[in-house]
Amino acid sequence: MDLTTKYLGLTLPHPLIAGASPLPDDLDKVRGLEDGGIAAITMYSLFEEQITQNLVGSAAHIGSYENSFSEAASYFPEMDLLERGLETYLEQLQRVKQAVSIPVIGSLNGTREGEWVNYASLIEEAGADALELNLYFLATDFEVTAAEIEDRCVAIVAAVRERIKIPLAVKLSPFFTALPQFAKRLTEAGADGLVLFNRFYQPDVDTDELDVRPMLELSQSSELRLRLRWLAFLSGRLPVDLSVSGGVHTGIDLAKSLMAGADSVQVVSSLLINGPKKINQTLSELKTWMEEKEYESLEQLRGCLNYLRCPDPEALERANYMRVLKSFRV
Ligand SMILES: Cc1cc2nc3c(=O)[nH]c(=O)nc-3n(C[C@H](O)[C@H](O)[C@H](O)COP(=O)(O)O)c2cc1C
Repeated sequence: MDLTTKYLGLTLPHPLIAGASPLPDDLDKVRGLEDGGIAAITMYSLFEEQITQNLVGSAAHIGSYENSFSEAASYFPEMDLLERGLETYLEQLQRVKQAVSIPVIGSLNGTREGEWVNYASLIEEAGADALELNLYFLATDFEVTAAEIEDRCVAIVAAVRERIKIPLAVKLSPFFTALPQFAKRLTEAGADGLVLFNRFYQPDVDTDELDVRPMLELSQSSELRLRLRWLAFLSGRLPVDLSVSGGVHTGIDLAKSLMAGADSVQVVSSLLINGPKKINQTLSELKTWMEEKEYESLEQLRGCLNYLRCPDPEALERANYMRVLKSFRV
């Protein structure tokens, strides 16, 4: 069964890659991922705030994850990644590169235009095979328009593109009003890949402590559906590779992602919960399903249910919304 795929100029034996997570902080875990059969590894992010020595805002994203879900605790590396600086990040990237022979994707996370984008070239020099730029952003300012936010993102992508030669993927949030047009602009600005989507960690209200509590829960397969729709819309319509991140846990999730048009499929929660043994299990489930459906290669499968090719494109659109609501029975 040929599962070969191309993503960000890299030829991978199969599409399953480790998404950005704390795992690369521990070289044993990195080797475990390679031994377990992962096709590529994404580093945790270097944050704009780390570069500018201003940590405001980031702690809510990653901080306090360690005790949030006990089932994953045993697989977590001890870490204080945010408090560490740029040097540590680059050194760890080099160590990861030396430890494994699979591709390693660097990760840079920022939202404002500024000097921090220069660090993209340091990530390239440290040996990253590609760079994922995470534009994780919460629009909370009443005076800033959607157009201004999009312009800023496009400018950041163009600035990073200018500084590196390695392929560049942009990890997006699902909360853009006109995602296809925005995706097109990012591609024109130099993105070679788009990662759908960032997963927002929703704070909860703590009714005992009367406070807001940062929450990081691992994903479930149901979250994949948001990604499938947008993969299907973008697949085959832009000269850009597509990667999915969020809600991939089984071989069937993997199959769905590929049918919707993914070139690579990222897993994090699944690895944190189950460890590297899950990689082969997921790939075996995919292969079994492909055999049952008489697919011989991934090429036959990829994008077969995207917007351009699926038998009922309306199922992806507004018409389906009406249909689903009207067909609901109590
Ligand atoms: C503990 C933890 C740390 C993460 N750190 C990063 C990060 O540094 N940069 C990033 O872009 N995404 C980060 N993510 C998000 C994942 O890369 C991924 O997008 C998200 O978990 C959804 O994928 P999943 O459903 O496979 O978990 C992190 C996720 C978790 C659970």
